[in-house]
Amino acid sequence: MRILRTVAEVRTAIAVAKQENKTVGLVPTMGAFHEGHLTLMRAARADTDLVVVSLFVNPTQFGANEDLSKYPRDGASDASQAEREGVDILFAPTPDEIYPDGFATSIHVAGLTDVLDGAARGPHHFDGVATVVTKLFTIVTPDVAYFGEKDAQQLLVVRCVTRDLNLPVRIEGVPIVREPDGLAMSSRNVYLDADARQQATALNRALDTAQALHDSGERDATRLIDAAATVLREAGITPEYLELRDAETLASVTDTTHDTLLAVAARVGAARLIDNHFLKGD
Ligand code: PAJ
Repeated sequence: MRILRTVAEVRTAIAVAKQENKTVGLVPTMGAFHEGHLTLMRAARADTDLVVVSLFVNPTQFGANEDLSKYPRDGASDASQAEREGVDILFAPTPDEIYPDGFATSIHVAGLTDVLDGAARGPHHFDGVATVVTKLFTIVTPDVAYFGEKDAQQLLVVRCVTRDLNLPVRIEGVPIVREPDGLAMSSRNVYLDADARQQATALNRALDTAQALHDSGERDATRLIDAAATVLREAGITPEYLELRDAETLASVTDTTHDTLLAVAARVGAARLIDNHFLKGD
């Protein structure tokens, strides 16, 4: 595995691979790898000839009061884990390489970013994500790029940018990887102390409860949300949001007759966690 720091080095490596008719897979990440990240890498390894993982803690998607400075960073451990997964190139640029002096462009996706994490974290968040992902696509020019369904809204935003700007890349969504007790894996889970770690299991339990009701025929959004909210309340968690939305447009819904996304965000101990379940419509 090669660790590359500059755009120029990546472009050269990609040009060589394309001359050899190799397909290129890209897994964008912010590092602090866990099984979720490794699952995306395995999908890329299985599908494409040259696997590129980007590792960049993107400052523009963090708000002023968010955890940019203490976001977990362990480049050496990340590199050895990526190497073990058969990754060909780890692209780990500096902030200056991605945002040189004079950088002034931003990609904004309207509508989709007004709700859920866009509303909770502010518009800078998905603007930062859309801009850095678009840059990674133009630097790496992947045939396929892999994103986790854990960040379902991010996946929709990336699909929208790709479609709207005719970016020649196929976007693959990968199912959420969970701990044995159901907690969605996240780099931020390291912020949880033992009590908060236990409390955090209520997020998926709440979504499971609503999912089970939906599966048994309940379609009323308010009743499904109430069932999930009760589980959170009993665990002492006040969600930042707990909402059912159309799975493609994120429009609000009053029932789950069409495909919906049940999404939750909550502060648990020192971590802000998100999770979601996809509810299949009729
Ligand atoms: P990061 O949080 O490091 O996540 C990188 C990728 O791993 C994302 O596509 C995310 O959805 C996926 N992922 C995280 N946890 C997962 C889990 N438990 N199961 C499945 N996939 C999971 O998301 C970002 O970085 C950034 O916003 C980025 C896209 C790199 C842009 O900066």
